[in-house]
Amino acid sequence: MTSPLGVPVADLGTGVTMPVVGLGTLRLTGRRGYRALRYALEVGYRHLDTATAYRNESEVGRAIRDSGVDRGEVFVTTKLLPEDAARARATLAQSLRALDTPYVDLWLVHWPPHGQADPPLWREFLALRDEGLCRSVGVSNYSIAQIDELTAATGERPVVNQIPWSLARYDPALLAAHADRGVHVEGYSPLRGTRLRDRALGEIAARHGVTQAQVVLRWHVELGITVIPKSARPERIKSNLDLFGFSLTPEEMARLSRR
Ligand SMILES: NC(=O)c1ccc[n+]([C@@H]2O[C@H](COP(=O)([O-])OP(=O)(O)OC[C@H]3O[C@@H](n4cnc5c(N)ncnc54)[C@H](OP(=O)(O)O)[C@@H]3O)[C@@H](O)[C@H]2O)c1
Repeated sequence: MTSPLGVPVADLGTGVTMPVVGLGTLRLTGRRGYRALRYALEVGYRHLDTATAYRNESEVGRAIRDSGVDRGEVFVTTKLLPEDAARARATLAQSLRALDTPYVDLWLVHWPPHGQADPPLWREFLALRDEGLCRSVGVSNYSIAQIDELTAATGERPVVNQIPWSLARYDPALLAAHADRGVHVEGYSPLRGTRLRDRALGEIAARHGVTQAQVVLRWHVELGITVIPKSARPERIKSNLDLFGFSLTPEEMARLSRR
């Protein structure tokens, strides 16, 4: 499946689809953050990843509004900090006010509260979704055992687990465990977790006439992982989305996965 702008979308299995490349917004705050967000929307990003912890939900909301892009065309994720678990409803209401939107597309538990899965919090997430305040709900930084605990307690799985992923973190068993459960993996820190000067990356990038960063991001997408690279620089924002004019061979995928 592909979005109108040519970026493929992941089917979250609940009638909701998510563009497989989004803009990470950690540290994109203030005027610089706003400019980066506006530029991203201008060059075709339709997926923005924020969190209450990033203190930029109002910049994200303003950028969408000022861009003239229809709110319904942009997939917006925000996250609840574990310390706000006791006030989930109020925190979501605050996020929606800051984002200037009646709903978010994906709401995540940012980290397991006190290191625990927390089924009561998950129940509240599901209830708020049922009220229409978020179109889908998921988790971040959860283990497979913690995901299973939430699913066993409520009968409903998180549709996404947002976890660190990069060449060095390649873990096919973890990927398969998520796939078995119908939980989509969203990888964070794809570039921060990678040595871009790696020789194999350089050779593969040169072969395709792209940057090392594009190879890393394309590797994620070919593994079925959604990526949310962050950049404040226009040329990088643009090239980080430009991943669909080339593809990696099975040999290149295997070589990269061995890094
Ligand atoms: N759920 C969680 O717990 C969690 C944790 C961390 C992050 N996240 C999310 O994931 C997003 C991405 O992760 P991240 O921000 O940690 O790291 P990242 O996106 O992997 O890397 C960002 C860094 O890479 C640089 N960069 C971006 N594009 C580049 C390119 N084409 N070539 C070379 N360098 C490039 C950026 O610098 P410039 O800005 O100067 O370009 C920045 O220093 C975050 O923004 C956030 O939305 C979630």
